[in-house]
Amino acid sequence: MLKLKTIVAAVAMAISAHAAVAGEVEVLHYWTSGGEAKSVAELKKIMQAKGHVWKDFAVAGGGGDAAATVLKSRVVAGNPPAAAQIKGPAIQEWANEGVLANLDATAKAEKWDDVLPKVVADVMKYKGNYVAAPVNVHRVNWMWASSDALKKAGVKSMPKTWDEFFAAGDALKKAGLIAVAHGGQNWQDFTTFESVALGVGGAKFYNDAFVKLDPKALSSDTMKKSLETFRKVKSYTDAAAPGRDWNLATAMLIQGKAGFQLMGDWAKGEFLAAGKVPGKDFMCAAAPGTANAYTFNVDSFAMFKLKDAGAQKAQADLASSIMGKEFQEVFNLNKGSIPARTDMKMDKFDDCGKLSAKDFVATAKTGGLVPSVAHGMAIKPAAEGAIKDAVSQFWNDDKITVADAMKKIAAAGAAK
Ligand code: BGC
Repeated sequence: MLKLKTIVAAVAMAISAHAAVAGEVEVLHYWTSGGEAKSVAELKKIMQAKGHVWKDFAVAGGGGDAAATVLKSRVVAGNPPAAAQIKGPAIQEWANEGVLANLDATAKAEKWDDVLPKVVADVMKYKGNYVAAPVNVHRVNWMWASSDALKKAGVKSMPKTWDEFFAAGDALKKAGLIAVAHGGQNWQDFTTFESVALGVGGAKFYNDAFVKLDPKALSSDTMKKSLETFRKVKSYTDAAAPGRDWNLATAMLIQGKAGFQLMGDWAKGEFLAAGKVPGKDFMCAAAPGTANAYTFNVDSFAMFKLKDAGAQKAQADLASSIMGKEFQEVFNLNKGSIPARTDMKMDKFDDCGKLSAKDFVATAKTGGLVPSVAHGMAIKPAAEGAIKDAVSQFWNDDKITVADAMKKIAAAGAAK
């Protein structure tokens, strides 16, 4: 009798461990730094308030490369999470596999088409149907600065050109500080590279080279100048940069040890989480030469097809919460980004946020709005990976000539 009871209990436990609890939502994301964790906690709170069970599935690793690998293995094993942080053309690739749920019912009821900029809505759709929900718009072409470090070095204003940037870098070095805080993953290298190329060549060159992968643009003099400028930026970084996480690079600015960081505005989330005040403790400006352009990076969640009715309900609630005004405001105030919705008040946002919102709208009209390659918005993952590798090899090995790097990058682009 006792034995039977034990078996029944063990079976019940095994079943409950495997079956999805009604209303449970397992969410795969890569928001693990201080500012990121604070931001995603807001979504968890909203879902819990709606009575759902939030199962956190955080995979550390900036830029999400590690999370993408884990996601693949879960889907291949037939056990996808309810929702995953997926963006850009990767959304289309997953939808093409037939594994994503259709979010049109929620999108129609809540008029997503009316409140999202077309450039954002298009990325969320596959064959005209919504398969992902956007949480924000991040601007990638930012330059951050530590007010303390700039003061110590006598740098009075944020550099507007690359020449001014290098002059400020020299002053920082002279003051015994690290000029540029950099980390060591290929997405971080490319984050810097795409800002340099945008500043050197402008939005048309950026689009031709990195979105259209036009061989002419990839082998042009502008590309050469971009790589030369990029290599020069490296000489302003410290020897400990390889392997460093992006948030640790931001911490170097927070501590006043380094002057600048070229990074998207999730860096602002780190400054804020550390209690720092924009315009006082730290400064933001568009990366040199890029004030009239905007590299956009939209974080979004795709939902996977699930059979359980409770899980489906939780997914619909998650999609609706993500697009809700309450979440779009509180999340983006923490995350450093701006809301994806265009009908939001910006009065609670700081000057960096307000500038981002203004420039997003302005550059959409002038053609200066371009998708970030480093953050998976521009090209398919395979071509993106190949180009990033070629750029990182060049960054990491001073023996690789600019001419050789150009050949490698053009070859990677041709393999699209
Ligand atoms: C994501 C951000 C994230 C950053 C660092 C970017 O690709 O869009 O949400 O904070 O990577 O992990």
